[in-house]
Amino acid sequence: MKIGLFGGSFDPIHNGHLSMIEGALESGCVDIAVVIPTARNPFKRGRMLSAAPYRFYMTKRAVEARFKKNVFLCDIEFFMEGISYTANTIEKFCGEKYLKTFLKECGLGKKADEDHSFCWICGSDILPTFDKWYKPEKILQNAGLLVAQRPGDSTDIEYEKKRISEALGIDADIRSFEIKGVEAASSAIREEKVFDDIPEAALEFIKTHDLYPSEDPLSEVGDEACSVYLDSAIAMYPILGEKRLLHTLNTGLLSALYATRFGADPDKALIAGALHDCAKEIDIDKQKKMALKRCPELTTDPKLYHSPAGAIMASKLMGIDDEEILEAITFHTTGKKDMTVLDKIVFLADKLEPSRTYTDLTLMRELSKTDLDASLILCVKAVKNKFDMKGREIHPYTLEFMKDLGII
Ligand SMILES: [Fe+2]
Ligand SMILES: [Fe+2]
Repeated sequence: MKIGLFGGSFDPIHNGHLSMIEGALESGCVDIAVVIPTARNPFKRGRMLSAAPYRFYMTKRAVEARFKKNVFLCDIEFFMEGISYTANTIEKFCGEKYLKTFLKECGLGKKADEDHSFCWICGSDILPTFDKWYKPEKILQNAGLLVAQRPGDSTDIEYEKKRISEALGIDADIRSFEIKGVEAASSAIREEKVFDDIPEAALEFIKTHDLYPSEDPLSEVGDEACSVYLDSAIAMYPILGEKRLLHTLNTGLLSALYATRFGADPDKALIAGALHDCAKEIDIDKQKKMALKRCPELTTDPKLYHSPAGAIMASKLMGIDDEEILEAITFHTTGKKDMTVLDKIVFLADKLEPSRTYTDLTLMRELSKTDLDASLILCVKAVKNKFDMKGREIHPYTLEFMKDLGII
């Protein structure tokens, strides 16, 4: 098979990306296209990309809505160490072991043993600087370059092919194909927040998770905390399903925003919020064991285990040892007496993050813009109502929290 690999940040994915995939398939140069969202980009504050799972799942939605066959998403970079370099990704992908497993997962097991050729689908704009990329010769040893050219694009592919071949001392396999369609840039879309060139499925995803909000939740967060947050997102990818992973990341971002608003530490809020549900999908007996270690009082109901277990997991997974962060994670489900502002923030963000729809949250969200406790009072009352309706007993720690809030 001729396999076309299409990597990118996809922050966000736009119609220009989709027309490149379409063009590559129509050109006959590839039989299937494999879309690979980058996991770890070189960290640059000010140009920081959305956490990898957002970009991965948004791209998945858009690609699956547009292409019914022959296009597949690949999460290879979530399982690779360090910065995502194209040369390393291609090398790993083309390796027999990875490739066979991947093709089987895509329902192409019958073709797995065939001979395959690979190309890296890219825009013509990369050619003038391609020989300055990380290990360009390694890229070309494994894959050719399949370059998209729009009408009017004046890049001289033959000239570039000759120049790159000479610079690297190899006979570079560089071919081109023509594409129509829009020319869009993700960076401009992010900055201007004009979403005309975003496919509908991606747009819906952006709205659900408020992915490019007008108020930047990370504006007051330090670089180190941002890095921990981005790495946490990748570390949690194998252990949480899509919905829960995005929920816990959303909680991190909203917690950081609340921290800026209500005078808590935005670094700690981001990390505590982002990791608060990290233990929720691990084996329930293991959750209980960890919960017993961290806070035996929270083992009265299996639904509570993941909170104290989450504190232990956060330490294991990301080396978090800050007690304020670990406390906020431990008590995010029940609350407790004498909650700190950080504890309250994570508790509330968990209930109000943008993808939450369990009840009418309009008033709570409105109050959360100015008055943390007022919003919490409404929120905890709603939680209590839910428990009353289901005949579930409120944990004594929640009753203490309610007393502090003046609800009872
Ligand atoms: Fe939770
Ligand atoms: Fe949660």
